[in-house]
Amino acid sequence: MSEYVIAIDQGTTSSRAIVFDRKGTIVSSGQMEHAQIFPQAGWVEHDATEIWDNTREVIASALSKANLTRHDIAAVGITNQRETAVVWDRNTGEPVYNAIVWQDTRTQPIVDELAADGGVDRFKEKVGLPLATYFSGTKVKWILDNVEGAREKAEAGDLLFGTTDCWVLWNLTGGVDGGVHATDVTNASRTMFMDLKTLSWDLDILDAFGVPASMLPAIKSSSEVYGSVHTSQLLREVPVAGILGDQQAATFGQAAFQAGEAKNTYGTGCFLIFNTDTEIVHSKNGLLTTVGYKLGDEPAHYALEGSIAVAGSLIQWLRDNLGMITSAPEVEQLAASVQDNGGTYIVPAFSGLFAPYWRSDARGAIVGLTRYVNKGHIARAALESTAFQTREVLDAVNADSGVPLTELKVDGGMVANDALMQFQADILGVPVVRPVVTETTALGAAYAAGLAVGFWKDLGELSANWGEDKRWEPRMDEAERARQLRLWKKAVTKSMEWVD
Ligand code: G3P
Repeated sequence: MSEYVIAIDQGTTSSRAIVFDRKGTIVSSGQMEHAQIFPQAGWVEHDATEIWDNTREVIASALSKANLTRHDIAAVGITNQRETAVVWDRNTGEPVYNAIVWQDTRTQPIVDELAADGGVDRFKEKVGLPLATYFSGTKVKWILDNVEGAREKAEAGDLLFGTTDCWVLWNLTGGVDGGVHATDVTNASRTMFMDLKTLSWDLDILDAFGVPASMLPAIKSSSEVYGSVHTSQLLREVPVAGILGDQQAATFGQAAFQAGEAKNTYGTGCFLIFNTDTEIVHSKNGLLTTVGYKLGDEPAHYALEGSIAVAGSLIQWLRDNLGMITSAPEVEQLAASVQDNGGTYIVPAFSGLFAPYWRSDARGAIVGLTRYVNKGHIARAALESTAFQTREVLDAVNADSGVPLTELKVDGGMVANDALMQFQADILGVPVVRPVVTETTALGAAYAAGLAVGFWKDLGELSANWGEDKRWEPRMDEAERARQLRLWKKAVTKSMEWVD
């Protein structure tokens, strides 16, 4: 009997494969980074072919590290960076352009053009999202408008669109040799094309964008058998049975199944998801309405989301663009070399500001500099920016729900950083709680796949796997918290004023 489930986590900076056992414990993993391509200011691309090549390699490496074969694996789950758009030729399997990444802001003119008729909230009632460069819809339109011959080919039915879950699924199940062209409701809810109520593509919106429906994948639930791995692959014949966008996967991996439960994931960006059960709640405070998960034929579960574009990627920027550190974890030491931020605040609006502001035109700002400030203060301000942004998102969640959260479950790479988590609790004024397994994104995708094939029997079994590892209690006094927040908000206004 197969004793494991494998999750493929196709993320913004790397692709990983992680093997889990029944307890949700990690058995082995493989990981490969892919190139971040920045052709112009504001543009961010990935090579989708490189991503697929890496995916195959990380699967091989995760299996071989634990001496496993396909017979040990009950199912494959997929989770992914969400709004990144891939358009490829269904006959050759070749992408017609690099994948346009969720952080990319090149489509601002498309946003402006569509918003001219009805404003940025033109489609919000149906899709839960404001018009913004973040979502995949404007990126597909950009490819059709700008890549030579793409529109003609798309209209002839030769091109396919998908987010990276869909790209991986299509390739894994055979590519040009009968690959399954499907996505799940959570990823579909990030395109701007899916009606949240009917969970199907909205033809009027597609028409407004000028995107042919023939390019779009079938929308499936997050937990069902979509197909089997193609015979040419290492995992041949293993069912692919779960797909969740990475933030929804982390929520599922945190076992936040009940209304009012929330989690915050500190990755490239930072995303707080608040479960609203089967109710579609529209935010009055700058949050997105999105699908949380849907298990087979059961009703969809919805969520409110506070999306922060830049968290871990600010630390990468200190490493790669400023050369201030040589590896990301070094930032913790550097930040610990000083007592406080020395009056410095960094607003990392590299892709504009997401929640709760939704200002694509905002730009990054470092304020409060004096001759006293050194790189320790900059490192500290960089880490603190994630905590301040999370506080603003939490305020929006509390205002929308009317019932303040009493603690925050956290996960993702940055939660290993003790000082940051303490500062987070201090700035929020509520405890921050880290689970034993912090790889909740991959775990959530594994859970979705395992449930579909009966590897796990129900949500109760998954909840029983969740265990608390560490809890940070707030220690900052109220006056200091209020002072810090006032200065942070002032810094944010500077970033919004910096419009060309
Ligand atoms: O919406 C973008 C998100 O899915 C990317 O997540 O893990 O790269 O911060 P991450």
